[in-house]
Amino acid sequence: MPDINFTYRPPPVMCNGFDPRAFRWAQTMRLAVEEINQSAELLPNYTLGYKIFDSCAYPLTGQRAALSVLNGLSEDNSPMCSGASPLLAVIGESGSAQSIVVSRILQPFRIPMVSYFSSCACLTDRRNYPTFFRVIPNDDYQVKAIAQLLVRFNLTWVGLVRGDHEYGRFAVQGLLRELQGTEVCVAYQEMIPLLYNRQRALEIMQVMRSSSAKVVVVFSAEGEMTPFLRDYMTQNITGIQWVASEAWVTASVFTGSEYYPYLGGTIGFGIRKGHISSLSDYLQTVNPQRYSNNILLPPCSGEESLLEQHSAYMNTSSPRVAYNVYKAVYAIAHSLHNLLLCQPGSGPFQNNSCAQSKNIHPWQLQHYLQEVAFNIAGEEVNFDLKGDSIPYYDILNWQRGTGGSIEFVNVGLFDGTKPAGKELVIQEDKMMWVPVSVCSNSCLPGSRKAVRRGEPVCCFDCVPCDSGKISNQTNSIECTFCPEDFWSNNDRTACIPKKVEFLTYDSLGIALTVISVVGACLTIAVFVVFFHYINTAIVRVNNSELSFFILFALTLCFLCSLVFIGEPTYWSCMLRHTAFSITFSFCISCILGKTLVVLAAFTATRPGNNIMKWLGPKQQRAIIFSCTLIQVVICATWLIDAPPFPSRNTHYEISKIILECSVGSSLAFWCVLGYIGLQACLCFVLAFLARKLPGNFNEAKVITFSMLIFCAVWLAFIPAYISSPGNYADAVESFAILASSFGLLFCLFAPKCYIILLKPEKNTKQHLMGK
Ligand code: TRP
Repeated sequence: MPDINFTYRPPPVMCNGFDPRAFRWAQTMRLAVEEINQSAELLPNYTLGYKIFDSCAYPLTGQRAALSVLNGLSEDNSPMCSGASPLLAVIGESGSAQSIVVSRILQPFRIPMVSYFSSCACLTDRRNYPTFFRVIPNDDYQVKAIAQLLVRFNLTWVGLVRGDHEYGRFAVQGLLRELQGTEVCVAYQEMIPLLYNRQRALEIMQVMRSSSAKVVVVFSAEGEMTPFLRDYMTQNITGIQWVASEAWVTASVFTGSEYYPYLGGTIGFGIRKGHISSLSDYLQTVNPQRYSNNILLPPCSGEESLLEQHSAYMNTSSPRVAYNVYKAVYAIAHSLHNLLLCQPGSGPFQNNSCAQSKNIHPWQLQHYLQEVAFNIAGEEVNFDLKGDSIPYYDILNWQRGTGGSIEFVNVGLFDGTKPAGKELVIQEDKMMWVPVSVCSNSCLPGSRKAVRRGEPVCCFDCVPCDSGKISNQTNSIECTFCPEDFWSNNDRTACIPKKVEFLTYDSLGIALTVISVVGACLTIAVFVVFFHYINTAIVRVNNSELSFFILFALTLCFLCSLVFIGEPTYWSCMLRHTAFSITFSFCISCILGKTLVVLAAFTATRPGNNIMKWLGPKQQRAIIFSCTLIQVVICATWLIDAPPFPSRNTHYEISKIILECSVGSSLAFWCVLGYIGLQACLCFVLAFLARKLPGNFNEAKVITFSMLIFCAVWLAFIPAYISSPGNYADAVESFAILASSFGLLFCLFAPKCYIILLKPEKNTKQHLMGK
């Protein structure tokens, strides 16, 4: 680009290199015009003329070209100053940026232009570009197609690279809009500078290399891509999946085998191809002689073979852009033809007038251009109200062809006229590409996505679901709660019924059973021993009847703990506390009776005291009975009013359902325990008073001791009971029952059994009475 500082006449823009592809397009225009001029049907008796300008794909050069056509060589013979314009229409520009400039210049003169390659969505704006037509689909369709492609293949982590022009800017804008609300996120956006700058390009490549996004969508043309790719190939970046925009997806400059390792697999949407039968032959007719004043040509003799030297020029197998040029020329020719066919009096202009064939105004041609509809090789060509044409793309995939060079393989199509969702048709089996590009791998069932603060939504962490919650799909956003009575499995992928727990015959249950059976057997054994030695001193002295009562009660106590094992039912719940409390009450009442007797017996030794009369066997039984009765009444009230019932405890451990007996009324429960406690304390106090009384075998001592143990056990039980959950509370209670029963059994009967069985010589009245 020349430097323009308005202090001297700007030098001409220098174009770099030669673009064989664009040259082919220009030749195609010549061919089309020649065809029309020779045609007997289209514009007979008229000859189209044309001028071709090289814009070098720069807006500034395009602007100069446009101005120079309009101005002519000098002001005097400027064509614009002499009536109707000889310039009726412009074909071009190629790039949107150039088209914009040219369209703005042509606008005041209302000269229509038909672009064959400017796809920018911005050009659809009829207010800004009222004379603009094109035979290429609007990029809105292309970005929609690319977005659908990315979504279809779950390429959710993409980089965007664009050239510094309207085309790139609007396409990226459009793509971002299309990607909104999809799963696809953009990792980075980069811009190749207008004037290629290696430093900047290397920075872009560094971004590409370090990003985990493997898919790079590039909106750019081959002109700026060429230096970029040349540098790219020196950078040793691998694994990139290019998504090429229509501007370069069919650029044959990149088909050389040296590009294959870097560009193989590239995918993109190519514009519709067509067939121009005479193009191939026509292109070969170029000869340096025809451009005798072109300084680029002196090195050519005219004998060179075009096929080998410029494959990009001769690539005519499936013209796409060239075909657009061809269509554009024909569109203008047909419009002009229609204009000339106008019947005076039924024309489209004021007062039904027609255009004058000798003095056609460009805006009149525009009118016909807007209406034109014709057929080329079976394809319908027309323009919609915005000057756009039918959206149709081929999906092209760059695959290795014969000789290692790249071939464009058609792997599908995008037809914008189809209903939404049905536009994209892909033959996946034909595709060759890098199929994965995600920022984060998907979250498996059992976990959920957790977005990372400040990062795009495609980058997330997977967090396992909390216990009790599940996710059964990949990429779940949330874990859902399991329904009541269900809990998550270990993988958090399904809800399974909660484990139901209660005290059963597992190790704990078996231990309890064994202990209680052993206890019961021991008691029975003691019973048998006592029964057998019923006539010996020690049994008789110690109130044998009460001893048997106690042993009986203890047996029941031991067996009571068995009721606590097993699934709680309506009946077992009612039985549990009541059975144990009544037997315990009974047992302690007996011990109480005994204590009273001991106390009374010794007090009675004093003269004049006949207290023993009041404590005969009958009275003893009555005391025992009434003491137990109180407990029975409490229990009965409890059972009638608020009986214990089986319940499901889901709070203690949320992953389990614990089956337990709810006490129904805690007041009753504590009353029952309290009554036992009360009895035990009373017993303890009385026994304590009697402990010092004479006699070698004063039972009061052992009763004191046994009550101490008893109270200790139950005092320890209370906190353990309160803090244990369901089934363990049962176990604790059951152990407390067993422990206290054992305590009583041992304290009360072990010494006696010892004497009975091992020290029979001490089992005499004299010995027992002591001094
Ligand atoms: N579709 C592109 C556009 O509208 C095609 C194109 C042609 C292009 N020449 C270009 C893009 C030069 C960028 C630069 O612009």
